[in-house]
Amino acid sequence: MNIVVLPGDGIGPEVTEAAVTVCQRAAPDAGLTWSESAFGYAAIESDGVPFPESTRTACQSSDAVLLGAVGSPADLPAGSPRPEDGLLELRAALGTWANLRPVRPHPVLRDASPLRPEFLDDVDLLFVRELTGGIYFGEKIAGEDRASDECAYTRAEVERVTRKAFELARSRRGKLASVDKANILETSRLWRRVTQDIGDSEFPDVELEHVLVDAMAMHLLRRSAEFDVIVTENMFGDILTDEASMIAGSMGMLPSASLGSGKVGLYEPIHGTAPDIAGRGIANPYAAILSSAMLLRWSLGLDEAASRIERAVDDAVTAGVTTPDLGGSATTATITEAVIDRLD
Ligand code: NAD
Ligand code: IPM
Ligand code: MN
Repeated sequence: MNIVVLPGDGIGPEVTEAAVTVCQRAAPDAGLTWSESAFGYAAIESDGVPFPESTRTACQSSDAVLLGAVGSPADLPAGSPRPEDGLLELRAALGTWANLRPVRPHPVLRDASPLRPEFLDDVDLLFVRELTGGIYFGEKIAGEDRASDECAYTRAEVERVTRKAFELARSRRGKLASVDKANILETSRLWRRVTQDIGDSEFPDVELEHVLVDAMAMHLLRRSAEFDVIVTENMFGDILTDEASMIAGSMGMLPSASLGSGKVGLYEPIHGTAPDIAGRGIANPYAAILSSAMLLRWSLGLDEAASRIERAVDDAVTAGVTTPDLGGSATTATITEAVIDRLD
């Protein structure tokens, strides 16, 4: 099984190295082959574009892709290729329209969250973020005095991602919250209609509620334990999950899996390149390590190895092995070692 690693920029290479090292130790006999390809700003420097043809071919012929993060270290001149464009091209090329972002705060990290502990009890959320449509992919008009970004969704795009979210809700606690801005946006009105239709016709056993995005931003801080699966469109999902990372204590704790109709899944921590700490060896690799566990489970069927990694992460966090973002003093390397030590 071939896994393509796209280290990318900033702390991307630091956290993917940790994740690959852990996976190699967790599944030594699974016949996994890891290879790196250029992506992001690093690829702009080496190939002139953020998502080179050779990287596209490697990803499309792989069994799964593990990504660090991409971003430019400095402001780029207007009109030049951007690392983030490569990320959107990658998601589109792999057709990964459902981005799963679980949020389960570790009890030991209660003090790392800015929320009061009583708001963290029993939180177990799964965000399903639509990933290949909406305002990220609409027509753009750049201009000195006026600019616009079109936001469009089709019924089919909403159906497939909400159906996925309903299925996941059915396999969990049977509750789905669909987040939109239907009081203002036409795309949200379509989103709400389609979600309700799918619920009524295919998932009458799943409890569906519609929540406006501004209210959800508030509910997440106070009553996130009451939600189970939360499905939403691309940009709302981007924003709400960064907010939700504070429930877990740090951006460095949230992994993600991006799945679609194609065979290749894409796995990435939700955080970015963290320019403020890049190159210092103190990036929190747990999100990348947990993303690689999701890769083993969802793309390669290596459930046992995935669970061992997740338990080892849990145990290392319980033992207080954390980086400065969580108030600890561990380095990326010591966390990698701590997880490996706890694999068995
Ligand atoms: P960021 O996620 O990089 O950082 C936000 C804050 O969280 C920073 O203080 C950072 O130090 C901290 N942080 C994030 N991940 C951490 C980790 N693993 N360990 C410790 N601390 C961590 O967001 P930003 O600063 O807004 O964006 C920086 C760049 O990253 C931008 O160019 C943006 O476009 C890019 N970005 C890329 C991705 C991706 O590739 N998937 C995701 C988000 C942002
Ligand atoms: C994320 C990131 C990306 C997004 C950016 C870098 C394009 O913020 O993966 O959450 O907005 O999807
Ligand atoms: Mn984001």
